[in-house]
Amino acid sequence: MWIGVVENFHISNNKLIELERLESLIMGESGVNSYTLQPLAHYAKLFTLEIAPARPDSAVIYDAPPASIAAPFFLTPSRTVYGAAEFIRPFEDGAHAHLFGFYIDESLRGRGAASMFLAACETRLLEGYSIGTIDLSVSEQNARALAFYIKNGYGAAEKVEDYYGAGRGRIIMRKTIRDVINA
Ligand SMILES: CC(C)(COP(=O)(O)OP(=O)(O)OC[C@H]1O[C@@H](n2cnc3c(N)ncnc32)[C@H](O)[C@@H]1OP(=O)(O)O)[C@@H](O)C(=O)NCCC(=O)NCCS
Repeated sequence: MWIGVVENFHISNNKLIELERLESLIMGESGVNSYTLQPLAHYAKLFTLEIAPARPDSAVIYDAPPASIAAPFFLTPSRTVYGAAEFIRPFEDGAHAHLFGFYIDESLRGRGAASMFLAACETRLLEGYSIGTIDLSVSEQNARALAFYIKNGYGAAEKVEDYYGAGRGRIIMRKTIRDVINA
């Protein structure tokens, strides 16, 4: 069994179907579809957490030992994508990235897989694209995600009311990866 993180430059038809299913299932109304996923792969950064019987040919950026997923895990035939991380970059600051979407499949939660996935993305963004800082927004109600980001070195910077429209406030969190990874 192979576990790792893939940096996507063009998403195949099968992978688009898998990603659209996960986006809708996990992210609900904030999920995106193929019309956003493909531009993210082409013009932003889309990483996927993948599990497969063997190492894929694509530009794999990080091979994780299967042991990094703490409990037994059973492969689902015809399925490889178990998580996605979507980053965009502002025009005015090429050393900064915004984590626009991040999730892993429910079957992998609480096993350290999400932390491994995020750390691999951060390392690649720093080493490959000179990204030094990352920010993201998270709902105050999403206690699990808040705890996860704090555990992974993100600090709450500000609270913005109505960030995504009336009643959809967000906590903005930031991390300086330049110092952490080079330390
Ligand atoms: C956010 C996400 C990627 C984190 O991955 P994960 O495997 O669940 O994360 P972990 O289990 O490593 O860490 C979550 C932490 O929250 C804690 N936690 C779990 N449920 C919690 C709850 N209801 N309230 C508060 N903390 C909670 C866990 O105990 C854990 O902390 P610990 O490791 O110190 O014990 C994953 O849960 C996910 O994909 N969620 C759905 C999508 C989502 O919300 N994405 C973020 C949008 S901004």
